Amino acid sequence: MTEPTAKRLYIKTYGCQMNVYDSERMADVLRPLGYVMADGPEGADMVVLNTCHIRERAAEKVYSELGRLKEMKLAKAASGDGVMTIAVAGCVAQAEGAEIMNRQPAVDLVVGPQAYHKLPELIARVSRAKGERLAADFAADEKFDALPTTRSAGGVSAFLTVQEGCDKFCTFCVVPYTRGAEWSRPPEAVETEARSLADQGVRELTLLGQNVNAYTGGLANLARRLARIPGIDRIRYTTSHPRDMDEDLIAAHADLPELMPYLHLPVQSGSDRILRAMNRDHSAVSYLGAVARVRAARPDIALSGDFIVGFPGETDADFEQTLALVREAKYAACFSFKYSRRPGTPASAMPGQVDEAVKDARLARLNALLDEQQREFNADMIGRTVPVLFERAGRNPGQILGRSPYLQAVHAAGPQTLIGKIVDVRIEAAAKMSLSGVLVPEPQLEPA
Ligand code: 5AD
Ligand code: SF4
Repeated sequence: MTEPTAKRLYIKTYGCQMNVYDSERMADVLRPLGYVMADGPEGADMVVLNTCHIRERAAEKVYSELGRLKEMKLAKAASGDGVMTIAVAGCVAQAEGAEIMNRQPAVDLVVGPQAYHKLPELIARVSRAKGERLAADFAADEKFDALPTTRSAGGVSAFLTVQEGCDKFCTFCVVPYTRGAEWSRPPEAVETEARSLADQGVRELTLLGQNVNAYTGGLANLARRLARIPGIDRIRYTTSHPRDMDEDLIAAHADLPELMPYLHLPVQSGSDRILRAMNRDHSAVSYLGAVARVRAARPDIALSGDFIVGFPGETDADFEQTLALVREAKYAACFSFKYSRRPGTPASAMPGQVDEAVKDARLARLNALLDEQQREFNADMIGRTVPVLFERAGRNPGQILGRSPYLQAVHAAGPQTLIGKIVDVRIEAAAKMSLSGVLVPEPQLEPA
C-alpha cells in the first residue's frame, strides 16, 4: 500500500468555539487526502483561515492576515517548492465571499460554514483552475451527514456541535445571516460522535450551538443521554439564550451530576429600553429570574455572560442599569464588547450611534466591575477541595493543568499519569484567571 505524500495543512481559527470545532472537522476531512497539520503557515501547502464576522475588528484581522499569507505564497512559488493554496472559511467567507476574492487575489477558495464537507472536491477543482468560488447554501444536515463519522480527539475535553444557527435576530448581530436558521442535529448522530470521542479518551464534552438550549427535543434530554456513555463524566454547553432556559434544563442542573455547574447566559444590557431595541425578547427582571431559578437548582453555579456597551441610543442611565444588573447577578466570568456596527443589521442604521470615547469609558467601568467579581469568585475557592479534570502538562516541570467544575484553570504539582483523570485538589491560591492547589490523596481503601 502506498501512503499519499504528506501535504502540510495550517488552519488558523478566529472567533467562537464553534469555529474551533469546525476547524477540527476540516482537518478530519482533509486528513485522508494526505494533509498533516503544520504549526505555522510558513511553507504550508494549504492554509485555511476560519474566520469570524461578529465584530468589525474580527473581520478586518482576516484581511491583514491574508496580506501576510500572500507574501508566503509568493515566496513558496519562487522557491519552486510547490503551491500554497489559500482558503477562507467561516462567517466572513459566508458574508462577503466575493469581496474577499476581489480584495485579495491570493485567495484560491472561499467556503462558508455549511460546505466544509465539500472541501476535498473544491481543492481538487482549484488545483485545476484558479479562482474557484462556492456559494455556501447547502443544508446543515447534509454537511453533518457528509463529514466523517469518527473524528480525531486531541485531548480529554472536546467540543461537539449539536445545534447551529439562530432565528432570534438580535438587531446588532450577524449570526442569523452567516449561520442561517436554527437547526439541531439528531440525537443519534450526536451520540455516535460522542461515543467515538469517548473511545479516544475524551471525558468532557462541551455541546455547542449558537442557541444550544433551543436544541430540538430538549437539551436536558440530550445531556442525560450523553451522560450515560461510559467515559463521559462531564458535560457543558454554550451558548444559551435567556428565553430558552426551560425548566427541564434547570432541573438537570440539580439532578444530573455530569452537568457541570457553569452557565454562560448572555444578557447584553441591563436596560429594558435597550433590550427592546436589541430585540432580545427578555427584560432585565426576566433574565435575573432565570438566573435565580438556576441558582435555586444549583446554588454554586458559576454564571458567565456577554455584554455590549454603546448600543445605539444607550444613555448613561441605561449603562448604569447594566452595572446594576451585574452587581445583582454576580458573574464568575464575562465577555464584554463595544458595540460594533455590522453592515446589514438593523442596529447599524439606528440613530444615536454612540461615540467611541464614550464606549471606551463604559467598557473600562464595566470591565473593572466584572474583574472584581471574577477575582472574588476565584478567591472564594481558597481552602475548598474541588474535583479537577487534568488536561495537560503545565508550563513548569512537574506541574499539571486542568479545570474545576466551574471552568477555572487549576495548576497542581503532580505526575502526568493523572492527565485524563478527575482528582480532588485543595485550592491554595487564586489569581484572576487561574487557581493553584495541592492534590488530595485518595483514601486507601485496601492495604497496599
Ligand atoms: N457588536 C458588539 N458585540 C457583538 N456581539 C454580537 N454582535 C455584536 C456587535 N455587533 C457580541 C454579543 C454576543 C457575542 C457572541 O458577541 O455579546 O453574545
Ligand atoms: Fe446573535 Fe442574538 Fe442569535 Fe445570539 S441570540 S446569535 S446574539 S442574534
